[in-house]
Amino acid sequence: MKGIILYFSGTGNTKFVVNKIVEEFIKGGCEIETHSIEEKISLQNLTYDFLVLGFPKYFEYIPNNFIEYLNENLYYSSKEIKTMIFSTGRDKMKIYFHDLEKILLDKNYKVIITKNFQMPDSFTLNKNYKKNTRKDIRDTFENTISEIKDIVVNFLIDNIIKEEVSDLKGSIYKTIYKIKTRDLYKNSINFSVNSNCDKCNLCVNICPTRNIEKIGEVIKFRDNCIMCCRCVNACPKNAILYKDREHSQYKENIDLVVN
Ligand SMILES: Cc1cc2nc3c(=O)[nH]c(=O)nc-3n(C[C@H](O)[C@H](O)[C@H](O)COP(=O)(O)O)c2cc1C
Ligand code: SF4
Ligand code: SF4
Repeated sequence: MKGIILYFSGTGNTKFVVNKIVEEFIKGGCEIETHSIEEKISLQNLTYDFLVLGFPKYFEYIPNNFIEYLNENLYYSSKEIKTMIFSTGRDKMKIYFHDLEKILLDKNYKVIITKNFQMPDSFTLNKNYKKNTRKDIRDTFENTISEIKDIVVNFLIDNIIKEEVSDLKGSIYKTIYKIKTRDLYKNSINFSVNSNCDKCNLCVNICPTRNIEKIGEVIKFRDNCIMCCRCVNACPKNAILYKDREHSQYKENIDLVVN
């Protein structure tokens, strides 16, 4: 049996989970291929028996870039494709996967697993969140790895496990997501760099939306930011400021999406 994992990962947490899922599928005797949506591949050119979709949750909802990608690249499948959807988040709160499930169902993809995996928090711009301790990080990884093993086994034997959120709660999450992202994305012009920046170009090269450019010797941020936090956490000089403030960086999994 061959599977495809399609994911988006801003700061490496989702990629970490993808890597663990791959290990479990291989143990289960499957062939598996992974693609980030940043590769912009068309699913039409791939053959597979099952599909796994993964992304970070932003304000308890699905990142818009992921939905847009699927709308453009997922076609009707003549055979029913078994599917798993997962998110990663700083907490265990379930997210509303229904909108995504509807898109998939229309294309003959049958979702049997929906799951949010808790990971250490990488949203370093939010000063109100308590920073994870080493113990928090270790415990979270341990717990998530054991949940991944369980989920893959259940997927392989066709057990349906769905984390359900009511439509009412879902529409509240969706509204909050829309409001929050509208404000955040507008505020992406609030990024700047301080004098520690050595113009290494890393942020320019790794931004998933090409929102950063170097004009002469000046690093500029445009208005196409999805607030994935990759640049802030990856900068080797911690030189990227948000609203003129320096932020602590999340380094646990950043190498998975930068190298
Ligand atoms: C803009 C933004 C909003 C977020 N909102 C939430 C949230 O509502 N709930 C949550 O548990 N985590 C939230 N997070 C944390 C991420 O979901 C979490 O760190 C995730 O594992 C990051 O995955 P990635 O490293 O693959 O990008 C948010 C992160 C960002 C950048
Ligand atoms: S990654 Fe950091 S040091 Fe490198 S160009 Fe960007 S802001 Fe400057
Ligand atoms: S500029 Fe925005 S989209 Fe680009 S890496 Fe930074 S946070 Fe992500």
